[in-house]
Amino acid sequence: MSEADKPTVKPEGEAKDSGGEISRRDFFNEVAIAALGVAGLGAATVTYRYLSPNVLFEPPTTFRAGNPDLYPVNSVTYITDQQVYIVRTGAGFYAVSAICTHLGCITQWKPEANQIQCPCHGSKFREDGTKIEGPAPRPLPHFSITLTPDGDLLVDKLETIKPDKVLKV
Ligand code: FES
Repeated sequence: MSEADKPTVKPEGEAKDSGGEISRRDFFNEVAIAALGVAGLGAATVTYRYLSPNVLFEPPTTFRAGNPDLYPVNSVTYITDQQVYIVRTGAGFYAVSAICTHLGCITQWKPEANQIQCPCHGSKFREDGTKIEGPAPRPLPHFSITLTPDGDLLVDKLETIKPDKVLKV
């Protein structure tokens, strides 16, 4: 038998053979590379989330409620996007939260009953926010209300004030 006739023997784990099959070693190498890629992607995602600022985009707490002449005397006006009632009496203006002090439902002004009522569990309030009945533990808070230099009403929902304070215009 000549040297050319002898069969060649590949060591175990050598590169792909000519039939398109891969060796066990190559298979495990590719699995390991894929696992490292997945782990790297996960680590990059966690790092990105960690480095991104955690910012809550909330609407401003101060808002203009327009010219006082927009509000008739003895009126209650609900400002929908601010969840605040602007109340005008003969004495002046005040701003009352529309968020129920029980579990945070949005109350509704009921002119026929002359009350602010909560649709969730039935709490009722006077137009000045004092509680009439129901499970609400506290009256509706009053917010600071002032005039801007150009004469608009300005409500600050971060500043609660005593309910007897009224903005005289
Ligand atoms: S949330 Fe208003 S009464 Fe319960």
